[in-house]
Parts: sequence; structure tokens; C-alpha cells
Amino acid sequence: MKILITGGAGFIGSHVVRLFVNKYPSYQIFNLDKLTYAGNLANLSDIENKENYTFLKGDIVDAAYLEDIFTNYQFDSVIHLAAESHVDRSITDPLSFVNTNVIGTVNLLNAARKLWKDDMQNHVFYHISTDEVYGSLGAEGFFTEETAYDPRSPYSASKASSDHFVRAYYHTYGLPVKVSNCSNNYGPNHFPEKLIPLAIYNIKNERSVPVYGKGENIRDWLYVLDHARAIDDIFHRGQVGETYNIGGINEWKNIDLIELLCDVMDEKLGRPAGQSRKLITFVKDRAGHDMRYAIDSSKLMEELGWKPSVTFEQGLSKTVDWYLENEEWLENVTSGNYKSYYEQQYENR
Ligand code: NAD
Ligand code: TYD
Repeated sequence: MKILITGGAGFIGSHVVRLFVNKYPSYQIFNLDKLTYAGNLANLSDIENKENYTFLKGDIVDAAYLEDIFTNYQFDSVIHLAAESHVDRSITDPLSFVNTNVIGTVNLLNAARKLWKDDMQNHVFYHISTDEVYGSLGAEGFFTEETAYDPRSPYSASKASSDHFVRAYYHTYGLPVKVSNCSNNYGPNHFPEKLIPLAIYNIKNERSVPVYGKGENIRDWLYVLDHARAIDDIFHRGQVGETYNIGGINEWKNIDLIELLCDVMDEKLGRPAGQSRKLITFVKDRAGHDMRYAIDSSKLMEELGWKPSVTFEQGLSKTVDWYLENEEWLENVTSGNYKSYYEQQYENR
């Protein structure tokens, strides 16, 4: 089986690529990635020489390029993760989210449809999406697969649009699609523009830790390897045409999470208890900041027997250890453009 994984040099994609390359030696795994600021081949250095792995540098917005590679490699299935993924960047540059997340996804759907048109049977087009498409919850309730879409940021609007296109290709052309919508991931290789790795980086360097608004927003955190395991389960055993929600059953208010992280890091770094909490700085809130995300994953758990394998405390501890042991990775991704991003993003907050 030849599987095209898009966005495999990014955070979640690199864990999915590694899992598939190692677990399924008889599959040929092709990783297509543009290598934007968020893509990093160092994430895959341990598997880059495996015989069943091929890296393809390319842009999913380039339809002609996609047609070429689909013709040359005759992919059997696609697992699509490539995306612009950071809400704050989508607020400053919505159009690049439309290009990659919407147009790039439609280009991939077209390429798959063209290649598989005479036999849609033994293929899967698996689209990886986010719980943010459902909008923002109040204090009660959970997102289910039936929750109406209500995206509120340019990022979630672009992901919602791509989800709709994927389902439209199923209904209109019979393309064998699967979709999953997952909550916030955390773990190794997470780019330090997102809350947890940014806080780890700043705590480590004794810099202020920016918490938006009053820190009362709630996210449901899932360890990235548990997301990769869910993707494996859904790809192999999920039903065509279906959507699966994936969540951590693990809701945290941002301020509580950051305080816990400060304490974990104080202990690991041998700092006096309470020292890093002093770095917490409340800054101007994000525009249109969704209050709460919480996922009901009972369909995935009941149908496919998936459940998270680590507790948040275990996952957070492993994550902090990884960042402390991989200083070079962190230094590499925070040199160059990162500094100007950080200044622009946080200077006036
Ligand atoms: P990421 O930003 O870390 O990685 C995205 C990858 O896509 C990068 O390697 C980048 O180089 C690549 N890419 C971007 N534009 C491209 C293009 N035009 N052509 C080819 N490659 C391109 O993102 P992530 O956090 O790993 O998220 C992966 C997917 O999972 C996304 O679709 C995202 O919407 C979804 N998701 C993420 C989370 C989360 O918490 N991070 C949660 C649920 C769903
Ligand atoms: P983030 O990691 O950007 O994920 P998402 O916006 O996709 O949920 O942010 C997680 C939460 O943390 C969100 O409520 C915004 C908040 N946040 C901060 O308080 N400070 C920060 O510096 C960042 C990046 C996020």
C-alpha cells in the first residue's frame, strides 16, 4: 500500500509518519511537505533512511505538482494533515489559511478523484481536522459529531470549509473519505508558538509567560501520540463517509495548566517551589477568543476501542523532559524568523 501523508514534517504529522513507517514496514509512506516555518525534517531524522519512507518537498496549493506525483507514484490512500495551523497567525494573515487549508485540500481531493475514478473501492482519503470547527462552548456540554459547525476564527473557518469540501466529494463523487476532528494536542516537536511549548521555552529561559485575558479559557488536551494512535485506528477500521471526534477527556483552564507547568518545571530544573509562577503575565486577549472546547469521543471509543494511553500529568512530564533533552531542536526552531514573529505577536499585548 502506498500512502501519501501530507504535512508529515509538522508536529502531529511527524508522529503519524513515524508510527506508520515503523508499524507497517510493508507500506510505502510518502511524506509531502512544503517545509514552512512549522515543517522541520529534523522531526523525522530517526526514520529518514528507512526503505519504506520517501520525502517529497512540495506545495499542496500547486495543483499541477500534485497531479504529477499522483500519476508518478499512484498513491492508494491519503492522510491529509498539511495546514496552516495557528489561530493567531490566521488573525494577521487569513488568506494564507484559505490558500493552504481550503484550496490545497480541494487540490488534493481533485488529484485523488482523478487517479481513483475508475475504482473508488480500495482507497481512503482521510482528512485530519480540528474541534475548533464547532465553535465555542459555554460552561456545559461537549462537541459531538452532530454538533453544528460554527467556526469563529479565520483558522477554524478555513478548516470548516475544507471539512465541507471533503464530505461534498464523498456525496457528489463517491470519494471514499474519512474525517476526524481532534482537540488540542501537546507533546514533543510542538512548535513554540502554541501555548504549551511556548510556555516551556519561556519558563526554561526565565522569560515572561504570556497568558491571554484572564486565563479562563478552557481547552481539552490530548497527548500527540494518542492522536496518532487514533488516526491509525480510524484509517484502518473507521467507516468510510464517517466522522470521528477525538478528545483527551482532559479539560484545563489555561491559567491552571500554566501554573501546573511552572511547578513541574521548577521541580525538574531544581528551582525553588513557586519561582516560575512569577513569570506568568496576563496580556491582551486574543480577538474572538473561543471560551471552551470539550470533545465527546464516545463514538471512537465505543466503535474502535480507542482511549488515551497517558494521563495529563504523565504526558506533560514526558513533554517537558523531551524539551529539556532536545535543546538543540528548540534553539534551531527559535532562531531566525521566530524572533521577529514573537516580537510582532507579543510586543504590544
Ligand atoms: P503544524 O503547523 O505543526 O504542521 C503543518 C505542516 O504542514 C508543516 O510541516 C508545514 O510545513 C506543512 N504545510 C503547511 N502548508 C503546506 C502546504 N501548502 N503544502 C504542503 N505542506 C504544507 O500543524 P499540526 O499542529 O501538526 O497540525 C496538523 C493537522 O492537524 C492540521 O491539519 C491541523 O488543522 C490539525 N489539528 C491540529 C491540532 C493541534 O492541536 N495542533 C488539533 C486538531 C487538529
Ligand atoms: P493555542 O496553543 O494557540 O491553541 P488554540 O488556540 O488552537 O486552542 O492556544 C491554547 C490556549 O492558550 C488558547 O486559549 C489561547 C491561549 N494562549 C495564551 O494564553 N497565551 C499564548 O501565548 C498562546 C499562544 C495561547
